[in-house]
Amino acid sequence: MDLGLRNRVALVTASSRGIGLGIARVLAQEGARVIINARHDDELAKARETITKESGAEVLAVKADLTVKDDVNRLVKESMDTFGNIDILVFNAGPPKPGTFSQLNEDDWEYATRLLLLSAVWLTRRIVDNMVSRGWGRLIYVTSLTLRQQVPNLVLSNTVRLSLAGLVKSLAIEYGPHGITANGIMQGYIATERINQLAQEEARTRGISVDEVIKAWSREIPTGRYGKPEEVGYLVAFLAGDKAAYINGSMILIDGGYVKCVS
Ligand SMILES: NC(=O)c1ccc[n+]([C@@H]2O[C@H](COP(=O)([O-])OP(=O)(O)OC[C@H]3O[C@@H](n4cnc5c(N)ncnc54)[C@H](OP(=O)(O)O)[C@@H]3O)[C@@H](O)[C@H]2O)c1
Repeated sequence: MDLGLRNRVALVTASSRGIGLGIARVLAQEGARVIINARHDDELAKARETITKESGAEVLAVKADLTVKDDVNRLVKESMDTFGNIDILVFNAGPPKPGTFSQLNEDDWEYATRLLLLSAVWLTRRIVDNMVSRGWGRLIYVTSLTLRQQVPNLVLSNTVRLSLAGLVKSLAIEYGPHGITANGIMQGYIATERINQLAQEEARTRGISVDEVIKAWSREIPTGRYGKPEEVGYLVAFLAGDKAAYINGSMILIDGGYVKCVS
């Protein structure tokens, strides 16, 4: 199936490793030109090289911190200056600080709000008018299964990310008539550095080995394993393409069956 991604321009934020990198790799393999972003140059350069080598795609790497508005401005400007347009925005963010309500302070809440919500708003505001003028666009927001099943140690994710579901619905209603779709991804356990860090913390707290934590978490997943970053990429690639024109305003779980309730 040709998804129609050849020569589309895709900005994938927070993408030097993990889920963001998995998404950028798949989009590039499907023929898109991609912009990747993160805060550290070295890893960003490595990611750019990986994508270019395996797909031959044009890749722009922009160092920018999503929590800093000036950085977001520069990220969009450099992308537009290089490629002229952005057809696809894949908003992914770095992980928020883990912790319960009593463990976190007000600075943590403000930072998480900039990281998980405001940066999505800033990016969308700077990109969507250009999509409207061309009558085509894809807005895809990577969130978490915490929108469906809250995780005790992730109160920031449980709370702040929920607003992305409201943003997705609102954008879908407002921009659907302009050929633009807005959708969200709620991924479960995906094998990345972030999930290893969470497993290490859980192992420390419970006084068991990391291996035991990983086995226990995997037992909760009907498919019996973590997902791979590229498996999230395949879903994003479909949503980003022409064939997904009728999928709008949806929040889609990709979790191996982890979440057991219907809605
Ligand atoms: N892995 C999972 O199982 C899972 C499940 C549900 C939800 N999530 C969420 O999905 C997102 C991606 O997770 P992941 O597992 O792929 O994480 P990861 O492996 O730690 O990768 C995070 C990426 O985000 C970049 N980043 C972090 N903070 C940033 C910032 N302020 N500005 C720009 N880039 C930033 C990192 O690069 P730099 O450090 O160089 O900036 C890196 O490229 C996170 O929000 C995470 O909480 C993950």
